Amino acid sequence: MRILKGGGNPLEWRSAREVGEAALRAGQVAAFTVAGGQGTRLGYDGPKGTYPVTPIRQKTLFQVFAEKIAAAQKRYGTVIPWYIMTSHANHAATVAAFEDNGYFGLQASDVFFFMQGRMPAVDLSGKIILEAPDAIAMSPDGHGGSLRALVRSGAVADMRTRGIRAISYFQVDNPLVRCIDPAFIGFHFKNRSDMSSKMIPKAYPAEKVGHFCMQNDRMVVIEYSDMPMAMQELTTADGELLYLAGSIAIHMLNIDFVDRLGSGKDATFALPFHRADKKIKTIDADGKPVVPSSPNGIKFEMFVFDALPFASNPIVIETRREDDFSPVKNATGLDSPETCRNDQIRQWTRWLRAAGVQIETDSTGLPSFIFEVSPLFADSEESFVSRWQALEPKPENFSGLYLG
Ligand code: UD1
Repeated sequence: MRILKGGGNPLEWRSAREVGEAALRAGQVAAFTVAGGQGTRLGYDGPKGTYPVTPIRQKTLFQVFAEKIAAAQKRYGTVIPWYIMTSHANHAATVAAFEDNGYFGLQASDVFFFMQGRMPAVDLSGKIILEAPDAIAMSPDGHGGSLRALVRSGAVADMRTRGIRAISYFQVDNPLVRCIDPAFIGFHFKNRSDMSSKMIPKAYPAEKVGHFCMQNDRMVVIEYSDMPMAMQELTTADGELLYLAGSIAIHMLNIDFVDRLGSGKDATFALPFHRADKKIKTIDADGKPVVPSSPNGIKFEMFVFDALPFASNPIVIETRREDDFSPVKNATGLDSPETCRNDQIRQWTRWLRAAGVQIETDSTGLPSFIFEVSPLFADSEESFVSRWQALEPKPENFSGLYLG
């Protein structure tokens, strides 16, 4: 395993970026979003990707990703097909959201939706739970189910006909993600890695992210809920967290690797199931619906990061939190629409400053007004500075400004 951490060697980054850009120009990279989750913690009814997140235009998560993909397509003169995994609960509403919005400017033929698989839920003694007298209670098989769903749905076959070699994987909840990151893609190709990942140093011991760890010489991610808090609090002699490398669920995956893991042909090469104790709607002895008030059953989920121990040459690169990670998970407080909106504004403020504009902010880098930059205007500091320099006349008032 190699961990490229703390910035690494700038020459290595430059060469990785060139390799990534070449792969993009050659049309070898697809985008992939797992969007089958229920958004329960956010308390939002629709598919999470249809949740509005930007400060001025109230663009949805899906629109933000679509515009980032469109910007990359334009820059590299290529097609980046986008595969989106839905669930039984949100498939129709997800497809409708794209159809109703003209695929957010992308070609419909380059956006591919497929449903993830399901597993039967069992009660605490292991018996299958009925949801209705004639129906078993089924639940989504986790984002790890994406590997077999990519194969079963024909997505991998579609990628092969397009000449795709690797997939840029990200979750639906994080609008800051660089959906298409040439340096990350380049590191993945240069290292002949089956699966590559991005990490950020954990901000505090109890931060709810998975941890990259080595276990018997294999790389694994240990979920926050599976690592005792006393371990999460351990520090090195320098006072740094021992289990520092937080997973932000951003990966590159080779399609041959996905095919092998997802096809189910090799029983020794398959993701394990995790157990989650949940409240599962069921029926009583008379067939009447029962909504339990405490966990009454077990759901089975696969996690995509469990593919890591199977991967050849897995690499993890450190990224800057403020440029790649601000998820919307909770309705209020940490990782909420408000923190995410502010992180977007802080990023655009940094870009404006890099372009030489003076803006007053508080100590966290947040100005007292809101504004918005579309990914179609700029999707990085570098692209922002060059667009800004060419912009005439330049806006003088930033409050409420939309740069599109
Ligand atoms: C996840 C990771 C955690 C990581 C964190 C970063 C797990 C178990 N944990 O936590 O290691 O540090 O994100 O933000 O994944 N999804 C499906 N189908 C499913 C279940 C989930 O598509 O059956 C999708 C969701 O739509 C979402 C993503 O997977 O895009 C993450 O799901 P979620 O359950 O919210 O993960 P977290 O607990 O937030």
